[in-house]
Amino acid sequence: MNIQDSKSTPLPPFNLEVFLAEWEFKSPFHMAASDIETLPLNQLLEKASPQEQKLWQSLQLGYTETWGMPKLRETIAQTYKNISLNNILCFSGAEEGLFALFHVLLSPHDHVIVPTPNYQSSETIPLSICQCSGIPMEYSPSSGWSLNTQHIIDAIKPNTKLIALNSPHNPTGFIIPENQLLDIISVARKHNISILSDEVYRGVEQNPSHTTTQIADLYEQGFSLNVMSKAYGLPGLRIGWIASQNTKILQKLEQFKHYLSICNSAPSEILALIALNNRHSIIKDNQKLIKDNLSLLKTLLAEFPELIQWHTPLGGCIAFPLYNGPDTTEEFCQKLREHSGILLLPPSVYQSQLNTLQPQHFRIGFGRGASFKEGIKAMHKHFNAFYPEFKA
Ligand SMILES: Cc1ncc(COP(=O)(O)O)c(C=O)c1O
Repeated sequence: MNIQDSKSTPLPPFNLEVFLAEWEFKSPFHMAASDIETLPLNQLLEKASPQEQKLWQSLQLGYTETWGMPKLRETIAQTYKNISLNNILCFSGAEEGLFALFHVLLSPHDHVIVPTPNYQSSETIPLSICQCSGIPMEYSPSSGWSLNTQHIIDAIKPNTKLIALNSPHNPTGFIIPENQLLDIISVARKHNISILSDEVYRGVEQNPSHTTTQIADLYEQGFSLNVMSKAYGLPGLRIGWIASQNTKILQKLEQFKHYLSICNSAPSEILALIALNNRHSIIKDNQKLIKDNLSLLKTLLAEFPELIQWHTPLGGCIAFPLYNGPDTTEEFCQKLREHSGILLLPPSVYQSQLNTLQPQHFRIGFGRGASFKEGIKAMHKHFNAFYPEFKA
């Protein structure tokens, strides 16, 4: 008999998804979303070129190529500087890309470095395979969130296989400055360490000068993760991708994908193609929406300056501000939900296994359209009712 041990440990519940599954669709004011207001199908199709319209009209609903439609990969490649379609593998969302990459790259004796708090799968998937070190994001009341990239470099061990970055970061919106990214790359190169760079919020920086080069353009062992969900506002397409110069690992990922979604949804591939060919106008509209929403949010918070400590995040459409009221942040979020139907993400959702400190911050999203404006009105009413003593 040949018995083989499985070394992997089971994945814990995905706190954020468990919480959203319970509350997202029954809360009248979803103020925690990490995506941007989506385009309705008819408006997206209006943007299609005559060739794309033809492609849509003659759409076949069969299996598609595991790598992704070549035309789509070619268009994705155009969003990088030095990448061709052979360097792009499509996935069902970014989530599948994360799952596949960690499983293909890592084995039980490896070590991974990941900042905390984080988008949970970038911590719990590697932890289910091997050892991980968490690097706490740092918070200063005067300047907000930052990440000391030297701490990442200092955490490198002889068995470190991967550094998992996310910039703009979920949930803080922090962007790793390009010079610091280059420092991490140069140390990683010396130690033969791969870098996953989760770039799903790239494109909606508050100041375009903060937009950094994607890792696939900078590092031969770099893996850029992106998706249609966030900056493009099309999460329902479930089209994501990994871009990398390392075609050997991409081939292994493609084999791994045979055990997951196998291939992308055929309608989604064409719709993603149309969106990406119109990316400049879509992103411009989304940047404007974020700017307008941030201005509404800041006006509200300025009325209650001592209640919430606010720092505008550098990028993305979510922030992780600090609550300073009389109860805990968890209770603050619960009261908003129960009394006023307003959904924010409480700190428990971002509890990390790698950092015993419970964050006292909450996540708010500001990428949605009309519903965000309604949510701001509801928050205003709630703050007036429950926190009048914090009014300026
Ligand atoms: C940082 C980060 N990476 C990956 C994902 C997964 O993206 P998707 O839901 O499009 O698969 C998310 C979703 O919120 C995210 O915030």
